[in-house]
Amino acid sequence: MGDKRSRIIKALKDAQKSPVSGEELGLKLGISRTMVWKYIKSLQADGYEIESSPKRGYVLKSVPQLLYPEEIQMGLKTTLLGKKIQYFEEVTSTNSIAKEIAASEEEGTLVIAEVQKGGRGRMGREWISPHGGIWMSVILKPGIPLRHASRLTLVAGLAVANVIRSMGLDARIKWPNDVRINGKKVCGILTEAKAEVDRVDYVVLGIGINVNMDLKDIPESIRAGSTTLKTELGKHIKRVSFLQDFLFELEQQYINFKTQPFSHILNDWLALSDTIGKEVKVTTPSRIIEGKAVGVTPDGALVIRKADDTKEEIIAGRCIYARPR
Ligand code: BTN
Repeated sequence: MGDKRSRIIKALKDAQKSPVSGEELGLKLGISRTMVWKYIKSLQADGYEIESSPKRGYVLKSVPQLLYPEEIQMGLKTTLLGKKIQYFEEVTSTNSIAKEIAASEEEGTLVIAEVQKGGRGRMGREWISPHGGIWMSVILKPGIPLRHASRLTLVAGLAVANVIRSMGLDARIKWPNDVRINGKKVCGILTEAKAEVDRVDYVVLGIGINVNMDLKDIPESIRAGSTTLKTELGKHIKRVSFLQDFLFELEQQYINFKTQPFSHILNDWLALSDTIGKEVKVTTPSRIIEGKAVGVTPDGALVIRKADDTKEEIIAGRCIYARPR
């Protein structure tokens, strides 16, 4: 079904608003005109504006502004990521779905939703996910030791920052996983992994990007520290092409991750980090550590130099910037 729908969309797009007959489409796809009509009906039901006249054929007037797999995959330049996409209008959490299906799914499968009702953030926090954002989870099977799984958070953060920077915005990364523009959060990443003994079976990279929402769509309690791409650029973003660019960039970084020493990615990450050199306060489930952020270890831990000049490595926690002492 998916393949035939895609081929009809492509044929109509290629025709650039000139009519394509049912007969021509049927011949191209090896199906009857009645079947073509059924596919057209299902596309119309999904928001594709297709005009049909019995004499001339079908004309594609407009495509829906949604993250439909057919739209994402048409023109997608990746070889692994997004080759399979599970799309939902509304879910609890794409990460929860990705974790349920990860064992039996191929590497690179994407779970994506227009809205999440139970979006999850780090450290048990909720992640508000209204219409207009990109809420997705990527299933990876890198076959790495569990202790290296957190490196993929840095890989994803770097890919998001790079693609936003390519739009002319000064995106920076706040340890461990916030991508920010002018000090305001535009993206969060939640990495979840399952391991057997020490090898990971899969990693789910959950990525939430505030794209076309207005600031008023973000709850007041976090609004002051948040932003969206639309707010920063002052214009509506084409989410499908943004996502295609992001998946391509993430795939390049993932290939680097698998083929090069991790120091290469770490150096690129450090160059975009706005945490190093800052006075920070990091809260972990058991305590609070304060000091100057002086580095990140190859496993993604933040290195803090404390007031007594000793150094400590923190693998996970909530980081806030403090005033210099
Ligand atoms: C954070 O900054 O706390 C991480 C936020 C991660 C949000 C994304 S949205 C897609 C995926 N599904 C979820 O439930 N969470 C992640």
